[in-house]
Amino acid sequence: MSSLVVLSNEKGFNLARRTAYLLNAEFAVIEQKTFPDGELYLRIPLDVRGKIVVPVWSIKEEINNDLISLMLVLDTLWDLGANKVISVVPYMPYARQDSRFKDGEALSIVTIAKLLRAVHSDYVVTVDMHLHRIGDPRFVFGEKIINVSGVDAIADYIKNRHPQLGGKAIVVGPDEESEQWASRLGMLLGLKWVVLEKERYSAEEVEVKLRESMPREAEKAIIIDDIISTGGTIESTVNLIRKLGLNEIYVYCTHPVLSASGLYKIVSLGLADYACTNTLPSPISTIDVSGVLASSIKSLA
Ligand code: R5P
Repeated sequence: MSSLVVLSNEKGFNLARRTAYLLNAEFAVIEQKTFPDGELYLRIPLDVRGKIVVPVWSIKEEINNDLISLMLVLDTLWDLGANKVISVVPYMPYARQDSRFKDGEALSIVTIAKLLRAVHSDYVVTVDMHLHRIGDPRFVFGEKIINVSGVDAIADYIKNRHPQLGGKAIVVGPDEESEQWASRLGMLLGLKWVVLEKERYSAEEVEVKLRESMPREAEKAIIIDDIISTGGTIESTVNLIRKLGLNEIYVYCTHPVLSASGLYKIVSLGLADYACTNTLPSPISTIDVSGVLASSIKSLA
């Protein structure tokens, strides 16, 4: 097998370095700066000719810049003679726009997939990609995308950190799409799960409702979701659960997008614990998914 190189942008540093360590790969952060007019300068600081290269790109806040830098890297790697490129985009941006909700809207994730195909990438690996309407990322990205889950790492974290949690706890998914994560977490922890119904009124305003009754024995709740952005979904879910009399509440998610006052909201909710995975950097990215990424990369290398 050709030798492996893991590259990352600054934001992907933590996750990429851990992944490189598990793969016993060379590791470097790309050199990037922004010119006064806003254009990006980018340089790959090591020799990639003939190697399997794994760019790990955490995309957050300056999403469009981060995407362009990924495109520049992918095209440059091809040009510099990399043997195979396995792009890791732990959080796939634009995935929530996977449908035309109003006439004339852009199908953003379809365009992003086309752009990633246009620059060279043999495989794309992503984590808990949000594809509510489409379901399977392969419908948009083709066969060469692998969508792994952060839920097993979240379950391990909960088992280690809260071994006492069990029996009287229930796993709660805030909306229909979260059933996949709530059911997996419930199975891994040996707990029942319920899934709520969510209505979104605006970017920050959501309402969640029970769609089935809460099991009587439930005394504590573990909320699981794929994304915390404004924190509106989690806040509304916590409020509903408290009204039902469950006061010990734990919140976990894969992607800490944490836009607007998302972090402040989560920290202020008086939760028993909260944590997200390190697909994106944040003060609460304490659950490591490098193990699941490394296994998936090994299978493709
Ligand atoms: C949406 O369906 C996702 O699964 C999340 O529930 C949502 O993106 C969270 O966003 P926010 O924190 O802004 O409510």
